Amino acid sequence: MSDPQPVYLSDYQPPAYRVIHTELTFDLDPAATHVKARLLFERNDQADDKAPLVLDGEQLTLISLAIDGTALTEADYQLDDHGLKIHTVPASFSLESEVKIAPSTNTALEGLYQSSGMYCTQCEAEGFRRITFYPDRPDVMATFTVTVIGDVQKEPILLANGNPVARGEMEGGRHFVKWEDPFPKPCYLFALVAGNLHKVEDHFTTMSGRDVTLQIWVEEENLDKTEHAMASLKRSMEWDEQTYGREYDLDLFMIVAVNDFNMGAMENKGLNIFNSAAVLTHPQTATDATFQNVEGIVAHEYFHNWSGNRVTCRDWFQLSLKEGFTVFRDQCFSADTNSAPVKRIQDVSFFRTAQFAEDAGPTAHPVRPDHFIEITNFYTLTIYEKGAEVVRMLCNLVGWENFRRGSDAYFERFDGQAVTIEDFVECMAQASGEDLSQFMRWYSQAGTPEIDAYGEYDYVHSEYRLTLRQRTPATPGQPEKLPMHIPIRMGLVGTKSGQDLTLTLAGEKLGKDAVIHLRDEEQTFVFTDVAEAPVPSLLRDFSAPVKLNFPYSREELAFLLTHDSDGFNRWDAGQRLAMLALDDLIAAHRNGVEKVMDSRVTEAFRTLLTGSTVDKAVLSEMLTLPSEAYIAEQQPIVDVDAIHAAREFVRQSLALVLRDEFMAIFEANRTDEPYAPTPEQIAQRSLKNTALSYLMSIEDEKAVALCEEQVAVDHNMTDVRHALTLLVHSDRDDLSAPALKAFGEKWAHDPLVMDQWFTIQVTRPQPDVLERVQFLMQHPAFSIKNPNKVRALIGAFAQNRVNFHRLDGKGYALLADVVIELNRLNPEIAARLVTPLTRWQRFDENRQSLMRAQLKRIKEEPLSSNVYEVVEKALA
Ligand code: ARG
Ligand code: ZN
Repeated sequence: MSDPQPVYLSDYQPPAYRVIHTELTFDLDPAATHVKARLLFERNDQADDKAPLVLDGEQLTLISLAIDGTALTEADYQLDDHGLKIHTVPASFSLESEVKIAPSTNTALEGLYQSSGMYCTQCEAEGFRRITFYPDRPDVMATFTVTVIGDVQKEPILLANGNPVARGEMEGGRHFVKWEDPFPKPCYLFALVAGNLHKVEDHFTTMSGRDVTLQIWVEEENLDKTEHAMASLKRSMEWDEQTYGREYDLDLFMIVAVNDFNMGAMENKGLNIFNSAAVLTHPQTATDATFQNVEGIVAHEYFHNWSGNRVTCRDWFQLSLKEGFTVFRDQCFSADTNSAPVKRIQDVSFFRTAQFAEDAGPTAHPVRPDHFIEITNFYTLTIYEKGAEVVRMLCNLVGWENFRRGSDAYFERFDGQAVTIEDFVECMAQASGEDLSQFMRWYSQAGTPEIDAYGEYDYVHSEYRLTLRQRTPATPGQPEKLPMHIPIRMGLVGTKSGQDLTLTLAGEKLGKDAVIHLRDEEQTFVFTDVAEAPVPSLLRDFSAPVKLNFPYSREELAFLLTHDSDGFNRWDAGQRLAMLALDDLIAAHRNGVEKVMDSRVTEAFRTLLTGSTVDKAVLSEMLTLPSEAYIAEQQPIVDVDAIHAAREFVRQSLALVLRDEFMAIFEANRTDEPYAPTPEQIAQRSLKNTALSYLMSIEDEKAVALCEEQVAVDHNMTDVRHALTLLVHSDRDDLSAPALKAFGEKWAHDPLVMDQWFTIQVTRPQPDVLERVQFLMQHPAFSIKNPNKVRALIGAFAQNRVNFHRLDGKGYALLADVVIELNRLNPEIAARLVTPLTRWQRFDENRQSLMRAQLKRIKEEPLSSNVYEVVEKALA
């Protein structure tokens, strides 16, 4: 077998034939579902009239094929593992086909598959080719009519995109429903769901006064877990009308929850399919983080109706066109709905940890890749989150009003079309008159730009000179980089006044908070009329996805922590201050020198704990140290044990000195109010639980008792999970073992709670974790075929830095074993799971060779193209 080959953006050709209308009939059966298709084709004007018809098709058993009613013989076409080529076809014709597929043995969860007995589909990106022969590419858009036939008992509910137009009984206990979707769509947005489902229904009146029926379909036992998703959906619909002027277009909008799903959710037209973990919530079973996540994902999928569905991507290289824009939209929605600074802090702290790592590793790729082997490997943090940062920069560059006019133009001009990133950026350039040509490098250059900044205050001339030098490190396939256009939002904070000073640049007054544009490799900005020595506050609100180094002293960081007018940078100053202290402690640990706590950090924390006026949610973030993963990102070579020891030392030192202050914060934020996922309550719980974490780091007797009390609270999973985690991650196994057991028995029936139960256990720092993982893989609630379970147990273990990176290599071997097994069952999940091993370059030589050995072992296997692509890059 030859190695899988990449496809290139530069090879893009428009399709020779387009589909005008698609008619599908599904006769459902677990082992043998029959799919009949009637496709109306037309040759494109530009195409050669001898062009063959090329259709994608995988894992299909062909039963019959006809053109305009005449059956084709084997001489008329060529069939292989990837599709079908029909040698000659007329300029316009109808193609009728019948194929057989087997949903019950589809463990890849792409195409039509069964999940907990129900049928469902996942077609993005290239899953539709596992349903029928079709030009499976997003630039082929057709209207769809779909008839679903199922068993009256087993599949009382039969759903597809659009509106139901007919239904009826059939012989042999069968029935059918026929659906029509009037909006032309690419086949990746096709969806079908069938099974014994129950619904919650609500209504939304659009801005033009149309009534839309909203339905959430779930298994019966989950009917009480849909309220939050429904409320989030209604808020999203309203927000998109008010913010982008976008109205929903069909009369019916459906969400379905399924247990087996590779990703979070999917924006199929009128029929969004969700991983149950991304839609179901209940105070007793879901944490605050899950409530907020559900809100964001419901919004994200809903927003795709315009940014993705009405206007879609020409090809999969343009994936960030819909994903980057839609993530930006959902981030703004969540910021407007909850606390904006906290949303930004959380997004950026995740971004700087995980996307920066991706950008620095062997799978680094641009926001618009120029080649790929397997597109499912490109549903990445770079495409989604960096793509969103790029759209955010665009929005800030042109200003909201121009951005909105550009977005209106984009949706009007390209409605019903499949377009490119240039089309989008061009709308923004036209609406604003800005020259965005250099800015386009954000889409083509991979890697995280690094800025070294240096500032000098000239007392004599009252000038502040800020010099910025940028550099983007080489990434695979891109050894040389050009300078980027980097917008840097900033202020100069006066050291005497503690206030933002007016910024005057080249004689122009810019205000107290302004954006400067770094376009060259090196630039010096001279601010004049600077009345007092300032501390610069740079990259406010994380105005560009870059690493910015400035030689701040700890005193300057402590100053910014209390005085910066930008909430995000106040938090960031605290993170930088903690990082400096952590760096010293990591070095001390490595050198076997006694660790000494930096009193400036302690004093900064004391101020935060006692005198702070910032909102509770922000305060909780400010009191949280950089994660081990983030600290690791900052080190030239990752020493997992030193990082863990240093961070624990800081936590414990703070807890010892500030015990009473933490306890006071805890007490002040307890409440007897019934649970509600409101921003106020979430902030309070977050602050209270952060305080409890510090107290538990020293196993304070009172804190232990408080944890025991909190574990027993029944109505609030946020508090229960937090307390249980603290107990399990402490050395008090005498208390945590019975608590874990009770929890596991109580929630044995609820798969989403059992996921949390798995994660809590395999993320603890104690050295028995590997054995626990092996033991839990045999637990009846675990299944390797369910992606949520794999993520909760194996994925979570691979994030457990001290245990996954054990020096005997057993953590790596365990992960490789699972990857090898999943490579056969579910290649998409296998390729994701292998990621931690691909980061081997970051570790010491010993670990490097252990990790590489496991990658090589994986490579010996007959690999799916998904795993092949990732492992190949990692070993290149
Ligand atoms: N478009 C979906 C979303 O972001 C994700 C689809 C993922 N598909 C996949 N095969 N990984 O909302
Ligand atoms: Zn999306």
